[in-house]
Amino acid sequence: AHDIDVAEDRVIVTTGSSGGFMLAFLSAFDAGDRVVLVDPGYPAYRNILAALGIEAVCVPATAEDRYQPTPALLDRIDGDIDGLIVASPANPTGTMITGAEMVALTTYCDDRGIRLISDEIYHGITYEMPGVTALSHTQNAFIVNSFSKYYSMTGWRVGWMVIPEQFHRSVECLAQNIFISVPTLSQHAASAAFDCTEELDENVARYAANRDLLLRELPTAGLTNLAPADGAFYVYADVSHLTNDSENFCRRMLTEVGIATAPGTDFDHYRGNETIRISFAGDTQTMAEASARLKDWIAC
Ligand SMILES: Cc1ncc(COP(=O)(O)O)c(C=O)c1O
Repeated sequence: AHDIDVAEDRVIVTTGSSGGFMLAFLSAFDAGDRVVLVDPGYPAYRNILAALGIEAVCVPATAEDRYQPTPALLDRIDGDIDGLIVASPANPTGTMITGAEMVALTTYCDDRGIRLISDEIYHGITYEMPGVTALSHTQNAFIVNSFSKYYSMTGWRVGWMVIPEQFHRSVECLAQNIFISVPTLSQHAASAAFDCTEELDENVARYAANRDLLLRELPTAGLTNLAPADGAFYVYADVSHLTNDSENFCRRMLTEVGIATAPGTDFDHYRGNETIRISFAGDTQTMAEASARLKDWIAC
C-alpha cells in the first residue's frame, strides 16, 4: 500500500503484533532501558515492557496534540530515552499522526539514537487521512503490523514486522527460541486474505457508517468532548461531567442498559477515571440501539 521496496530478510512474520512487540523490545532494548509511551495508550506496551524489566516512561499527551507524542513533549522528559512507541491510528483514541508529524518524530529519534517502534496495526481503517508509515522516513524503526484489525483475523494470531537490517539475526534467534514459528495454517490463511480487499473494505465502510452515527448521536447524549476519531474503531469520550470513576460508570452502564465500554483507567494512568472508550466494530443497528439507550440512561 505504501509502495516501498523492503529486503525480504527485514520482514518478520510474528504471532500477532503482540508477538512482534516481544521480539522488538527484546532485541532493541536492554533491561533498565527507558522507553517512552503516551497516556492514553494501549496497555500491553507498558505491561510487556515491565515484564522484560524495561522502564515504561508514560507521559500524558494532550488533546491539543491529538493524544500523540511530539518532539516538544519528548524534550520535556527528564533523563535518557532509549525508545519511543507510537501508534497511528491509536488505541484507545483513534487519533493519527500526519506525514509532517511523522517526519518530525522520526528525525527527532534518529538524531538522538532513540529507537522508534511504530505500531501501524490499524492501517487500512482510516477515515480522515491515509495512514503514514514510519518506514517512509527512516530505516531505523521497527514497524509493527498485524492481520488482527483490517484483515479481521484476530484469532489466527498472525502479524508482521519490518525491522532494521542489523536486527535480523537477533530477532531470528529470539523467534526460534520463543515461538519457533507462526502456525503454518494461519500463515496460509493470512496470505489468502491479501486477495480479500473487496470484502474487507466493506467492513471499513461499515465502521465508517458506525462512526458517523456515533459522532452524530453521542453529542445529543451530552458526550461532546470526543477525541478525533481519525482511524481504528473507537471513540474516546470525556465523561468528567458525569463521573470521576469511569470503572464504576462502565460497570453501571453494562448492568443497567447492557452497553459494554472500556474505562479510561485501562489506558491512562493520569486522567483515565474521567474517560471511556467506545468500540464501533459491531453492526450499525447495534450502534443505533446503543446510542438510544445511552441517551436515555444519561438523561435520567
Ligand atoms: C494498538 C494495538 N496494538 C496491538 C494490538 C494487539 O494486536 P494483535 O492481535 O496483533 O496481537 C492491539 C489490540 O487491540 C492494539 O489495539
